[in-house]
Amino acid sequence: MPLKHMHTVRLEPVGIEMDVEEGETVLEAAFRQGIALMHGCKEGQCGSCKSLLVEGDIELMKYSTFALPDYEKETDHVLLCRTHAYSDLIVELLNFDEDLLRRSIPVRSYEAEVRAVSPLTQDIRLLEVAIEAPLKFWAGQYVDLTIPATGDTPAITRSFSMSSAPSSPEVLSFIIKKYPDGAFSARLDGGLKPGDRLTAKGPYGTCFRREARPGPMLLIGGGSGMSPLWSMLADHIESGEQRPVRFFYGARTAADLFYLEEFAAIARGLDDFRFIPALSDAPPEGWHGERGFIHETVRRYLATAQLGGEIDAYACGPPAMIDAVLPVLQMAGVEPFNIHFDKFTQPSS
Ligand SMILES: Cc1cc2nc3c(=O)[nH]c(=O)nc-3n(C[C@H](O)[C@H](O)[C@H](O)COP(=O)(O)OP(=O)(O)OC[C@H]3O[C@@H](n4cnc5c(N)ncnc54)[C@H](O)[C@@H]3O)c2cc1C
Ligand code: FES
Repeated sequence: MPLKHMHTVRLEPVGIEMDVEEGETVLEAAFRQGIALMHGCKEGQCGSCKSLLVEGDIELMKYSTFALPDYEKETDHVLLCRTHAYSDLIVELLNFDEDLLRRSIPVRSYEAEVRAVSPLTQDIRLLEVAIEAPLKFWAGQYVDLTIPATGDTPAITRSFSMSSAPSSPEVLSFIIKKYPDGAFSARLDGGLKPGDRLTAKGPYGTCFRREARPGPMLLIGGGSGMSPLWSMLADHIESGEQRPVRFFYGARTAADLFYLEEFAAIARGLDDFRFIPALSDAPPEGWHGERGFIHETVRRYLATAQLGGEIDAYACGPPAMIDAVLPVLQMAGVEPFNIHFDKFTQPSS
């Protein structure tokens, strides 16, 4: 068998060296070697893995210019999830997180089996999956789920964040929004049945709960963005840590809200917890809560709230929601290194 070409990548300023094989991206090489670099979508859509190429020859696979505009490409910025190495490289990480590097979990593939699919709203489903062996992950992380090919139907892989807590490593649950023509999500009604086989590969993601932080924790989500936040909230409760928690959740109408009884029970059990839903399409009467988009609610809240302490914030959901929330947090004085987010981008093809 011919030998694979192998190159060395030196990551600055952390001083880590790793191999990258021909045919794999720098990010895939890092996952293979258990090195947790900043990333989000892994598909050139979100920009989280953006870094600076200091030295070496590379080729970039297809990516979105939202993630890497031309002026950044011209100044040697690269997306590590799209970068193939053709020589040894030196790469400067623009975003790195000591906590992330320290808490790295090697990525693995696991056989899995569907346990149940149940409705939470008219277009949100809870998918429960049993895993062949315990999957260690941090609350907020995600896996790539693959439905294998059958007959003429090709295999389909999509990223989904666990809604279950890491304390349940063998049965994972996922809160998934159903798109009528979605290659994966449309199969949640009638297509996927208990006993069906899947593959889960992971864990991925850098938007996970940071532990032992005394200041307030903001959880901000919309639609299926509830999934990782629900896991983080469960993990926070299990940890026994005491801190103010504010859970902001955006939905269109009251019928799109779910887990309301569970939130009420959590509010009774935790010392300083508030669930703050906002409806973007509430009727003129009958809804007494927040109205409008969730970033507007967060802005209003942070303008007057007396929270005290260093805030850390976690935002998950559609890219437009995240893009609206980030400046609100920055304007409210939340330190950039305390803002963690996952954009639920669509796959590129
Ligand atoms: C890091 C990460 C974590 C994620 N976690 C979750 C999660 O926990 N729960 C969850 O439900 N999803 C999550 N997603 C999104 C998920 O991976 C899929 O992109 C989504 O489920 C759509 O896949 P699909 O195959 O059903 O639709 P596709 O076949 O990919 O798309 C078909 C059509 O559906 C519509 N559509 C699909 N996605 C969107 C969208 N985002 N906005 C508007 N229209 C859309 C469009 O009309 C599109 O043409 C995550 C994505 C990422 C990158
Ligand atoms: S652009 Fe590379 S992880 Fe999203």
